[in-house]
Amino acid sequence: MLVVHTKEELAEQIAEWRHSGDHVALVPTMGNLHAGHVSLVELAREHAERVVVTIFVNPTQFGEGEDFDTYPRTLERDKRRLKSTPADLIFAPDVETVYPFGVEAATVVSVPGLTEEFCGAKRPGHFDGVTSVVARLFAIVQPDVAIFGQKDYQQQLVIRHMTADLSIPVQIITGETVRADDGLALSSRNSYLSDEEREIAPQLHGALEFIGRELQNGKRNYEDLESSAIVRLNAAGFAAEYVSIRRAENLEIPDRDCDELVVLAAARLGPARLIDNIVVTI
Ligand code: PAJ
Repeated sequence: MLVVHTKEELAEQIAEWRHSGDHVALVPTMGNLHAGHVSLVELAREHAERVVVTIFVNPTQFGEGEDFDTYPRTLERDKRRLKSTPADLIFAPDVETVYPFGVEAATVVSVPGLTEEFCGAKRPGHFDGVTSVVARLFAIVQPDVAIFGQKDYQQQLVIRHMTADLSIPVQIITGETVRADDGLALSSRNSYLSDEEREIAPQLHGALEFIGRELQNGKRNYEDLESSAIVRLNAAGFAAEYVSIRRAENLEIPDRDCDELVVLAAARLGPARLIDNIVVTI
């Protein structure tokens, strides 16, 4: 497995692969890799002969007062983690490589609409940072396919929208959320939780599963389901930001007949902001 830091080294390697007719899959990450990331790498392998993992803690998607400075940077451990899984290359650029004109003067790619609610409303500018960096990574790597996790449900929808709207010739694939045995979705930020908070954390997924069962049982009073989940989460020690039942396709408010729903939630627990979702097909 190669580890490269510059666009030139990356381009050279990719040109060689292209020359031999290989397809390239991209898995963008911010590092501190866990089994969720690894599952995306495995999925990438099913779609292309070559897999590139990018590790880049993207400054433009962190808001003021967020954890950009303290976000775990664990490149050596990440390299070891990817040795046992089939990635061909890690691209770990520095900020100047990704933003050659500097972060302040950077071109911004912004998707309206879809980004305005949920994590977009709670983290102003966050999705502009995500789409701006993903567009750059697409331009640098020029992959045939790119893999994103369902864990960040709104993010993968926003990226699908951007890619379609800009006619970027990359196929977007979404990989399932990998969870701990107790249901907690794996996340780099779970490491911020104390032992006691870690015990409580799976209740976020529990609340989503409860709503999922209610929906399967024919309940359609979406707002009641949302607000009682918020009450339960807050009683358990979370500070819930939102619990919301939406159309899986586009996050619009569903009518009673909608049969493809997503239940999205975000909640603070101690120092961590946890997000999770489940798709419910009726
Ligand atoms: P990061 O949080 O490192 O996540 C990288 C990818 O892993 C994302 O597509 C995310 O949805 C996926 N992922 C995270 N936890 C997962 C889990 N438990 N199961 C399956 N997939 C999971 O998301 C980002 O980085 C950044 O916003 C990025 C897209 C790299 C742009 O900077």
